[in-house]
Amino acid sequence: MWLRAGWDNEGMSPSVPIHQTVPAERWRLSVAPMMDWTDRHCRYFHRLLSKNALLYTEMVTTGALIHGDVPRHLQFNAQEHPVALQLGGSEPADLAHCAKLGELWGYDEINLNCGCPSERVQRGAFGACLMAEPQLVADCVKAMVDVVGVPVTVKHRIGIDKTESYDFVRDFVGAVSEAGCKVFIVHARNAWLKGLSPKENREVPPLRYELVHRLKAEFPHLTLCVNGGITTSEQVAAQLQQLDGVMIGREAYHNPWWLREWDAAFFNAEPPSVPAESVEALTREHVEEQMCDYMAAEAAAHGAPWSAIARHMLGLRHGLPGARKWRQVWSDHRLKALHPRDVMALAHGAVREAA
Ligand SMILES: Cc1cc2nc3c(=O)[nH]c(=O)nc-3n(C[C@H](O)[C@H](O)[C@H](O)COP(=O)(O)O)c2cc1C
Repeated sequence: MWLRAGWDNEGMSPSVPIHQTVPAERWRLSVAPMMDWTDRHCRYFHRLLSKNALLYTEMVTTGALIHGDVPRHLQFNAQEHPVALQLGGSEPADLAHCAKLGELWGYDEINLNCGCPSERVQRGAFGACLMAEPQLVADCVKAMVDVVGVPVTVKHRIGIDKTESYDFVRDFVGAVSEAGCKVFIVHARNAWLKGLSPKENREVPPLRYELVHRLKAEFPHLTLCVNGGITTSEQVAAQLQQLDGVMIGREAYHNPWWLREWDAAFFNAEPPSVPAESVEALTREHVEEQMCDYMAAEAAAHGAPWSAIARHMLGLRHGLPGARKWRQVWSDHRLKALHPRDVMALAHGAVREAA
């Protein structure tokens, strides 16, 4: 097994982990874990837009960490903090090992995926199907809490298949919280494990936010966050009247400029600095310029092509005139030999032409 330089197997099992006390504000607004989307480049981009939003990795399975390329899965940029590692698995010992690895690599939180309905994940007996086994999830959480000092959190659904009862999710949260999980992120729809694709499972089962509100009323000492179908600051504010946090998935990815509002609106903080002379369009350009520098640095350090990074910022001009032309340039692989700054100049030329 691959360990970070400087650590040996003894370092993997400290006798007494020091548990951080993290205020619930940490979870007030977060960007959801999204496979193939929230990789480290995407998270770097999002961090340019909000200093305070909590960012989640894509799900990383215990198998991938135990048998695969650990640095590829766990490397991240120090600027990404606060950043949470989401794990997929159902073996307590494997999860404990991977949670420790995540902590050693500097992640601020370890999150267990109990919400993914994909068939591949079900074959591995983890994700949403774990909701049927609260005691196993509790064992997994306990195994992780015993070895790490950072918070161990769980992301789950309100039910699986056609289970509609509140008691199901209440008993799940009750059992898992007793094992040491204090933060729950609830995707407020059921996961239908048969007959729906993962995409349909994010759209078809009805949203029932009221169940998450009931959970908070019943477990006021826990940090309860809601996820699913939230796309505006007004909706976020309304949820925050009742809950500790809101997690945003697709809207954050497709309309990242929205993140620029979050620090001021929800964390009482200044947004990341922009040049004093900025007007809105120029500020987007400033973010784009910072991404160009990042793309150039990544290419120099790791040989990463800019297109692997630029794909995450294609929503930056969402809703602005010329956005489609701008996206076309940034998606044009024939330009791959150019420096990102030159691609940016072409993209801006295309916007001017479109205007
Ligand atoms: C492309 C994509 C990949 C996803 N991958 C994960 C994942 O790895 N782990 C997870 O817990 N949820 C995953 N999700 C679900 C999201 O985290 C979130 O729960 C869901 O999109 C609902 O939130 P939204 O309506 O704000 O998008 C994924 C969603 C999308 C769109």
